[in-house]
Amino acid sequence: MNFDLEINRREVPALKTHKMVLGDDGENLFAAGVADMDFLAPPAVLQAMQKRLQHGVFGYETLPDGLIPALTHWQEKHHRWLLDPAHILRAPNVLNALAIAASLFTEAGDGIIVQPPVFFDFYDIIRENHREVVENSLILNQGRYRMDFDGLERLAANPRNRMLFLCNPHNPVGRVWTRGELQRIHDICARHGVLVVSDEIHADITFGDHRYTPFASLGAAAAQNSITCLSPAKSFNIAACCSAFTVVANPDKRRAFQMENSRLTVNKNNAYASVAMEAAYRDGADWLDAVRAYIADNLALVRKRLANLEGVSLIEPEGTFLLWLDFRSLNLTPDDLTAFLRNQAGWGVTRGIAFGDQGAGFARLNIACPRARLARALDQLAQAMTG
Ligand SMILES: Cc1ncc(COP(=O)(O)O)c(C=O)c1O
Repeated sequence: MNFDLEINRREVPALKTHKMVLGDDGENLFAAGVADMDFLAPPAVLQAMQKRLQHGVFGYETLPDGLIPALTHWQEKHHRWLLDPAHILRAPNVLNALAIAASLFTEAGDGIIVQPPVFFDFYDIIRENHREVVENSLILNQGRYRMDFDGLERLAANPRNRMLFLCNPHNPVGRVWTRGELQRIHDICARHGVLVVSDEIHADITFGDHRYTPFASLGAAAAQNSITCLSPAKSFNIAACCSAFTVVANPDKRRAFQMENSRLTVNKNNAYASVAMEAAYRDGADWLDAVRAYIADNLALVRKRLANLEGVSLIEPEGTFLLWLDFRSLNLTPDDLTAFLRNQAGWGVTRGIAFGDQGAGFARLNIACPRARLARALDQLAQAMTG
């Protein structure tokens, strides 16, 4: 497990280094946008996939017997969530599950509440399904984001707003919502009949004492009024070769989900995805501990380097490998900030404005990369800011 190893992502059509993301003249930029890691997948995953390749036959398959037990065991052991296997459905990916939830349990024109700045694909899913984005902005106070529960109460009370897309933990601000915060979300949403769709793809990367709480683990009522999206994509860096899971405790909603999966024929299994996910959940814990420690050290490096740099401050993350950097004191427009970071610092990071207007003046930096490269990028930033 050598996370210092430099691997050329351009040997495959990786999005992070592709011109679709970095632009036509971006090949020399520090590619730190797309939310994946630049590290090899866990050895257990690579071995399992190699073994599967050697088998050599790739006809139709059902799920391997060990996959769902590996997932439920993982949730119980690491997150104290007793997950009923009967509630788990397979999904091609998390975004697909969010889209199906939106289309099944809201009507065209209904509002879906999001809490920006938040993962940009939430907006696309809502709009492309002809629903309305309803914003309950997070509140930034002394460098820490919190939820606006009064705002949520007001919006949830409007019968047109039927669903909340919750990002737990939250991309891009790095909050790992506490049990108390999630309980308040549940109380408000249950009171007003707003269904909570909880995207928990960033569950496993948390720092220090911060602990991810699965929304549905709050209790039976929260489980009944929620749909949870799970995936090992981020935790084990297998986004291109895994699928996802939808947890639906409510039997009527689960049946509806199953029928929709069937109608859309998204219920086929990919052999590599099955093998990779099972190996990750069954045998990936040591690797995950190691990668979390490496990311925490990268975070410490950023914290140290930014401490004395005027014009940028770090929003201290509680989880995820994504850092939310506050450049607002530079007073640049979003385009000018992007141009400054690209042209002066050589940074290809994600524009804060992509996460909603609340992200103007911010940028999202992915630190799941070899430390030496991160250190060089921080040197470049320091030079740009002080030069
Ligand atoms: C919060 C969040 N949800 C979903 C995704 C994408 O999930 P998937 O690739 O399974 O659709 C991402 C990827 O960045 C994400 O950050």
